[in-house]
Amino acid sequence: MTARERAVVLAAGKGTRMKSELPKVLHRVGGRTLVAHVLAMLTEAGGIETCVVVGPEGEAVASEAKATSPDVTTATQMNQAGTADAVLAARDFLDAHDDGIVYVLFADTPLVRPETIDAMRARTAAGAQVVVLGFAPDDPTGYGRILTTADGEVTAIREHRDATEDERAVRLCNSGVMAFAVPGLSALLSEIGNDNAKGEYYLTDAIEIARAKGYRVEVAVTGSDDVLGINSRAQLAEAEAVFQTRARAAALESGVTMIAPETVYFSADTKLGRDVTLEPNVFFGAGVTIADNVTVKANCHLEGATIGDGAVIGPFARLRPGANLSNDVRIGNFVEVKNVEMGAGAKANHLAYLGDGTVGDAANVGAGTIFCNYDGFNKHRTEIGDGAFIGSNSALVAPVRIGEGAYVGSGSVITKSVPDGALAVARGSQDIRENWAQRFRARMSAKKKAG
Ligand code: UD1
Ligand code: CA
Repeated sequence: MTARERAVVLAAGKGTRMKSELPKVLHRVGGRTLVAHVLAMLTEAGGIETCVVVGPEGEAVASEAKATSPDVTTATQMNQAGTADAVLAARDFLDAHDDGIVYVLFADTPLVRPETIDAMRARTAAGAQVVVLGFAPDDPTGYGRILTTADGEVTAIREHRDATEDERAVRLCNSGVMAFAVPGLSALLSEIGNDNAKGEYYLTDAIEIARAKGYRVEVAVTGSDDVLGINSRAQLAEAEAVFQTRARAAALESGVTMIAPETVYFSADTKLGRDVTLEPNVFFGAGVTIADNVTVKANCHLEGATIGDGAVIGPFARLRPGANLSNDVRIGNFVEVKNVEMGAGAKANHLAYLGDGTVGDAANVGAGTIFCNYDGFNKHRTEIGDGAFIGSNSALVAPVRIGEGAYVGSGSVITKSVPDGALAVARGSQDIRENWAQRFRARMSAKKKAG
């Protein structure tokens, strides 16, 4: 049987340096909130019961946490008195069991990977009772320094502000992520005082206390990218860049072709099949699923869309939420699709707006077609039957239905439903006057000569 594993995720900090109305951990990387990244990672790491610690006005953070992982519990830290105080806000959660491992993570450190948790887990399995996740940043200023013995045991973590010159020369820094496999964790943390430069209860002081109790404390070292902490918009952008680099590598690894991967932007939940080709400058908003053998040509923006096998999208297409495209659909340049189901092999190849409706199998929507779905108050649906043909520059005024196999003449404004197999033409009819131009020119030049 594997040991019980739990996690406390700290999300009570104010994040003032973001200069934002939004709580820091609700800012997004790869379209996913920072707190959701940490919770999704814990889900992937497997079987870790989790408590998120939020601040006194943390309802929005708590509800985002529950929306991401319905099984999480939350605890509230009333005053932001430091990281040890924050963990102790989850005292009931900690005291519910006295065995296994408790991980502590920061919700503003969203790029930790499940493999990193595995490495910490492996150290506890090999006998460490406390594991600190360390990293060696280019510039260690501001971080807690990890002090070790010659054989690699950790003796203390010294916060930058409290460190001596010698201690500041240490490159190995505390990422904030820790694992505790000790009984009575809340009692141990309660021994921490606040006699330091910030007057806060530092979680990092748990290390010296654990050592004094005879526990073995070790460090697991990871890359700086893994533990990038976000305090500012600049660091948010840095984390986004790391996220995108990882997402591109994962896409290539899973069988996606990209001509210029550095120009393609993914969301954390983007799902791509095999033999998908993404041309340059494609942006994935949240909620896109693409099946196998799909090509997305250059300069497309996709969000909340599902794309079936063999479809070809773009260039310059916009797929919005509810664009559900079956196999072999064709969406061409300057076509916007929102909340529309398109059947197999249906086409809208040029300059169109398809909003709120259905397009049947193999139907052809001509250039310049608009689904007039909105009357200023309500949205209405347009239904196009299988095999129907919509001539160019038609306005389909919803609610309206175009029957199976029916034709709509170019330039029509369709306000009434069209029966299966019919032709509907709704435009001024053409009037021809033979030799009119010649007569007109003769008349006009005679007039001009006469002065
Ligand atoms: C902390 C570590 C430091 C480490 C650094 C890594 C301590 C004392 N220091 O410093 O060793 O190098 O992270 O980035 O732990 N939080 C609460 N309640 C509080 C205080 C903080 O929930 O009362 C949360 C914050 O939201 C944040 C995390 O804890 O997610 C870290 O707090 P922060 O104040 O940013 O710690 P640092 O000073 O950066
Ligand atoms: Ca920090």
